[in-house]
Amino acid sequence: MSETVQLTINDKSYDLPVIKGSENEKAIDISKLRAQTGYITIDTGFKNTGSTTSAITFLDGENGILRYRGYPIEQLAEKANFLEVCYLLIYGNLPTKTEFSSFTNNITNHTLVHEDMRSFLNAYPTKAHPMGILSASLCTLSTFYPESHEQNRSEESVDLTIYRLLAKLPTLAAWAYQNAVGHPVMYPKNKYNYCENFLQMMFAMPAFNYEPEPVIVDALNKLLILHADHEQNCSTSTVRVVGSSQANLYASISAGVSALWGPLHGGANQAVIEMLEKILNDGGGLKKWVEKAKDKEDSFRLMGFGHRVYKNFDPRAKIIKKAADDVLNKLGIVDPVLDIAKELEEVALNDEYFQSRGLYPNVDFYSGIIYRALGIPTEMFTVMFAMGRLPGWIAQWKEMMKDNQPIGRPRQIYTGEKERNYKSIEKR
Ligand code: CMC
Repeated sequence: MSETVQLTINDKSYDLPVIKGSENEKAIDISKLRAQTGYITIDTGFKNTGSTTSAITFLDGENGILRYRGYPIEQLAEKANFLEVCYLLIYGNLPTKTEFSSFTNNITNHTLVHEDMRSFLNAYPTKAHPMGILSASLCTLSTFYPESHEQNRSEESVDLTIYRLLAKLPTLAAWAYQNAVGHPVMYPKNKYNYCENFLQMMFAMPAFNYEPEPVIVDALNKLLILHADHEQNCSTSTVRVVGSSQANLYASISAGVSALWGPLHGGANQAVIEMLEKILNDGGGLKKWVEKAKDKEDSFRLMGFGHRVYKNFDPRAKIIKKAADDVLNKLGIVDPVLDIAKELEEVALNDEYFQSRGLYPNVDFYSGIIYRALGIPTEMFTVMFAMGRLPGWIAQWKEMMKDNQPIGRPRQIYTGEKERNYKSIEKR
C-alpha cells in the first residue's frame, strides 16, 4: 500500500499521499489540500517546497552529493567532455560515438549568429554589462526563428532550437564582451572544439592569431561541466515557470539568464573577486571583514560562502579548489587574491558563526579565481556560469514539456487592507 501522512485540522483528519524519489527522498503531496481543507501551505523562498519531480539531477546537500542522470559529478568533471554532458543532461544517457558525432556536428554547424544581430549589439553602450546583453540577445534570437513560438512543436524543431542555443550562446557571450571593451567581434571557427572556439572568439584579434592553450581549454571544460545543472534553483525554476506558460525556449532561457545575474545566485562569482580585491586593497586584514559579515546590522556577507542546500560542503567547490591550484601552478601565476581567498577560507571555517550555520565556500568561491587566471574579465564570470548552465536549463524545460506540467501559479496569503471605498482626490 502506498504511504500516506495524516494531517489533522480542527479534529478532522486528512490522508495525504507521500511521493518517494529513487534515492528515497520523501515529499508530502499537498496538491489537493486547498480543495479538501480550504488551507494552502506557505513557504517563502520555497525553502521546503518541491516544485516538481525530476529525473535529471540528484543532489544531497547534507552529504555533498551531486549526480547528473546518476553519474557522480567527480567522474564527469575528471573524464567527460562538456558536450557529452550536455547530451547526457538533455537526452538522458551518455551518447554513443555516432550520437556524439552527430550532436557535435549539429552544434558546430550553427555557431554563426545572424548578421542582423550585430546591429542590436552595436546599439548597446560601451561598458554595458555582458549579462544584460546576453539575456536580451537570447530573447532577440527568438525573433529570428518565429517557428520556435509555435505550439505542438515537432521533436526535430525542438532539437534544432537546442542546437542553435548551445551553438550560439558562446558566440553571443564573446560578442557581448567585445562590445563592452570596444573590440571588433571575432567569428566562430569550425576547426575548433566548443571550448577552444569560445576562447578564440574572446581572445583572438584580426591583427594576431590566438591558439587556445590545452591547460586553459581543459579548465574551461571542467568549469562548464561543474555548472551544467543544479536541480531546482532560482534560475532553473525561472526557466520552468516561464516555459510553463508555453513561452518559447529562447524566451525561457533568457529569463533564466536574468535570474542567474543576481549576486545571491550566479552573480556571486563576480562578487567574490570584487570582495577579495576590496579586502586586498583595504590592507587592514581579514578580521574586520569577517566581523562585518557576522554583524546583523551590516548588510555585508562573505560572497562565495553558504548555500541553500549544501550545509556540509559543496562537492563542486572541492573539485574547483584543486583545479584552481593546478591551473595557477601550470600557468605559473602568483595571485595575491588567491592568497586572500585561502586565508579567508581558513578563518571562516574555524569561526563558530560560520560553523554553526553550515556556511562553507561554494562553487563560486573558487571559480572566479580560475576565470581570472584564464584571462576572463570579471564582468564575464556570470556569463561563463550561464554558458555552463545552459544544458541544464534546456533539459529541465524539455522534461517539463514532456511531463505536460501545468502553468506555474503559486498562491498567497493576502495581508493588505480590507475592502474600502474610493474617495475623490479632494476628499483624501
Ligand atoms: N555571510 C555571512 N552570513 C551568511 C552568509 C554569508 N555569505 N550566508 C548566510 N549567512 C547567514 C545568514 O545571515 C543567516 O544567519 P542567521 O541564521 O543568524 O539569520 C544564516 O546564515 C542562514 O542564511 P540564509 O540567508 O537564511 O540562507 P539561505 O539558504 O537563504 O541563503 C545564500 C543561501 C547562498 C543566498 C546565502 O548563503 C548567501 O547570500 N551567500 C552569499 C552569496 C553566494 O555566495 N551565493 C552563491 C551561491 S552558490 C551558486 C549558486 O548555486 O547559485
